[in-house]
Amino acid sequence: MQASPSLIEIYNMEKHYIKNKLYNTSVLRVVDGISLSISKGETFSLIGESGCGKSTLGRIIGKLLTPTTGKILFEGRDITKLVRKKDKKLQKDIQYVDKEASFKWIKRYTVFKMLEKVLETHEMRSNTNGHCLTSHLLNSMGLAHIAYHPIQGLTPGERQLVNIACAFILQPKLLILNDPLSGLDLSVQSQVLNTLSHLKKKRAITYLFISDNLNASYCISDQVAVMYKGRIVEKGTVSQIYEEPIHPYTQALMSTIPSIYKRERIVLKGAPPSLSSPSNGCPFYKRCPFAQEACKSRQPLLREIRSGQFVSCHLYT
Ligand SMILES: Nc1ncnc2c1ncn2[C@@H]1O[C@H](COP(=O)(O)OP(=O)(O)OP(=O)(O)O)[C@@H](O)[C@H]1O
Ligand code: SF4
Ligand SMILES: [Mg+2]
Repeated sequence: MQASPSLIEIYNMEKHYIKNKLYNTSVLRVVDGISLSISKGETFSLIGESGCGKSTLGRIIGKLLTPTTGKILFEGRDITKLVRKKDKKLQKDIQYVDKEASFKWIKRYTVFKMLEKVLETHEMRSNTNGHCLTSHLLNSMGLAHIAYHPIQGLTPGERQLVNIACAFILQPKLLILNDPLSGLDLSVQSQVLNTLSHLKKKRAITYLFISDNLNASYCISDQVAVMYKGRIVEKGTVSQIYEEPIHPYTQALMSTIPSIYKRERIVLKGAPPSLSSPSNGCPFYKRCPFAQEACKSRQPLLREIRSGQFVSCHLYT
């Protein structure tokens, strides 16, 4: 089978923040040298524990945050230096949905009116040849019954679906979903996931799904990258990562979902590392049950260990 062409590629991406605790300055390496490529039409998940840099990377890819160094290609075009606010096409092509919908300024609008407003802002027409884009989308998302409800009366789940609708109506090529299920109860989470899958079947769209909800990422993803301390430690297809993980951190992460990972639970010692402690070696060194002396001083590279499965660990070099 031929691989789909890349929609977005990032190279050597880094994002540092300077932390100044009364002149005891240190550098937080929130994203620490990440390269990856997302193919057209796939759902690519970024997973990893809280604080590992997922949202920061997502915001960089969405051109909402300027990286310290690195390069981004979108459909082969170098967009590293483009400013999102000044580029209407980019704003439309790459949409970013955050964990909580914020409709502060338009709470009095109805759902329908708000979607129409989004189209208007992007100089797009809702009605063409008797076909109403807004009604059509609301129908296909199962939201027709709240079309004329004001935003302020919606439930959290409805608000998140409307948030997704606002992004989707612009027909983006890439939809970045940053923790879209956060704060929703389980039945609403599955409603949002089903809607995302349904929308994807109707139109070729690429998702970047960012979450620490491992079950959700398993349900929706084609490819998965596991982040730890600002780096990618393993990357592969959803079945490789969930059913046959290779990296010790991925194995520990997956062992928390026994319904998928059929081996014993692995309990990690110690707390997640500080992003400000520089490390020349493996970022997982202090918590890894298999750490060797070399892991302390030599950073493992991300290598292809099985077809399509990339791992950064000295045990496999
Ligand atoms: N503007 C900033 N200044 C300083 N530190 C920041 C800034 N933005 C993020 N960080 C730090 O970077 C780290 C990674 O943040 P990020 O939000 O990307 O993590 P995350 O993986 O998305 O976590 P979560 O799963 O909790 O959403 C955190 O420790 C955060 O405090
Ligand atoms: S490189 Fe060493 S410390 Fe890092 S995951 Fe592999 S064995 Fe563990
Ligand atoms: Mg986050």
